[in-house]
Amino acid sequence: MVNIAVLGYGTVGSGVVEVLATNHDAIAKRAGEEINVKYVLDLRDFPGDPIQEKIVHDYQVILDDPDVKIVVEVMGGVEPALTFVKKALLAGKSAATSNKELVAKHGAQLLEIARANNVNFLFEASVGGGIPIIRPLNQSLTADEITEITGILNGTTNYMLTKMDNDGANYADVLKQAQEKGYAERNPEADVEGYDACRKIAILTSLAYGMQVDYEDIHTEGITQITDIDFKYAKLMNKSIKLLGMSRKEDQGVFALVAPMMIGEGHPLYSVSDVFNAILVKGNALGDVMFYGRGAGKLPTASAVVSDIVDEVKHMGTHIMTEWRSEKLKLADYEQYVSRFFVRVKGDPEESAAEIRALFGSVEFCQAEDVTGEYAFITAPMKVEDFEERQVQLQGFISRIFVNE
Ligand code: HSE
Repeated sequence: MVNIAVLGYGTVGSGVVEVLATNHDAIAKRAGEEINVKYVLDLRDFPGDPIQEKIVHDYQVILDDPDVKIVVEVMGGVEPALTFVKKALLAGKSAATSNKELVAKHGAQLLEIARANNVNFLFEASVGGGIPIIRPLNQSLTADEITEITGILNGTTNYMLTKMDNDGANYADVLKQAQEKGYAERNPEADVEGYDACRKIAILTSLAYGMQVDYEDIHTEGITQITDIDFKYAKLMNKSIKLLGMSRKEDQGVFALVAPMMIGEGHPLYSVSDVFNAILVKGNALGDVMFYGRGAGKLPTASAVVSDIVDEVKHMGTHIMTEWRSEKLKLADYEQYVSRFFVRVKGDPEESAAEIRALFGSVEFCQAEDVTGEYAFITAPMKVEDFEERQVQLQGFISRIFVNE
C-alpha cells in the first residue's frame, strides 16, 4: 500500500479523494499497489464528514511521516504551494500538482530538485484539466520536432465566445451567464484577459522545447474587446472567433502569443465549443494530432491528478525524465509575427477603397446587412509591425482581430 497526502480539500482536492474512492480497485490494479489517502491538509475542519479523521492543519506532520510517499498539491497559488512541494521533494517524496501558476513559474526548478532526489514531480492537470497533454508531450511525441502548438486552453472564455457566436449575445451578457453558471469567477480577469491561457501555453512551450518560457514574455490579449458585431462579420465569412494560445517555431525562433483569433470552418479547433478545451500539436514527422476534452471541473481535473499519482506509484525509486531546463528560451519578437488581420473601419468602402488598397494591397470588403456605418476586410499576411504602422494611418479604424489559418 502507498500512502499519500492531499494538500487542500477544495474542489480539486475533494475530487481527487472521490476518484480514488470510486475507482479504488481499478486504480489499485493499474498502479500495482493500493493507494491510501493518509492525510488531507486544510485550514478548515469538516465536522460530520468522514474526511475529518484525515484532516491535519500542520504540514510538518506530513513531511515528518516516512510512510507518506506522495504529496498531492491542489491548493493553487504560488505560496505556500512552492515551499510545500520543494520540501516534499527534498524529503524524498514525489509530488503531483494541478497548479498552473506554480508549474509555469517554478516547473524547471522543481523538476531539477525531483531529479536530484530521484523522485517525481508531475503536473498533468495544470494544462487542459482532464485532457492528457503533458504526458503525451513528454512521452509520446518524443520522436518529433514540435513545430506548433495551438490550443483553446480556457473553458470559461470558450463558453462565452460560443454563446456570442450561437446566440448573437453581447460580451456583458455572456459574462453574466458564465458567472451565474459558476464558470467565471466574480473577478473574471485571469480568464477574460487571457492570463490563464498564457500560463498554459507557457508550460506547453517550455515542454516542447525543453527550456524555460516566461509567461511575462508572451504577448497576451484577452476577449474583452470582442463584440457581437465581430461575430456578425465572422458568420458572413464562415468563421468563428476563439481565444487561442499558440506557439510556433519559425526561422526567426519560437513565436508565442495568446489572442482572440478568427478561424475558418475548416480549422480543427472551429467546432470546439462551450467549456471544452482542445490542443492541436504539429510535429515534423507526425503531422497534426489533437487532444480534446474537459479543461476544467472537479472530476476531470482530479482524473488527471490521479493519473499522476498512479504514474508515481509505478515509478517509485525511478525518476521519470522530463526535459525542461531553467535556461530561458528567448522568444522571437512578437512584432515580427506574420498574420492576416480582420479589420473593421468606420465609413463607406466605396469612398475608402483606394486608401485601403494603397495601405493593405488587394482586399475584399465585407458589409453586414444590419451593421451600418462601417465595413470590414481581411489583410494579406503581414508582420505585426507593418500592420501597426499602416493601421495608425487608416482613417476610421475601429478594431482588428488576428486571423489564424
Ligand atoms: N478558469 C479555467 C478555465 C479553469 O476556465 O479553463 C481551468 O484552469
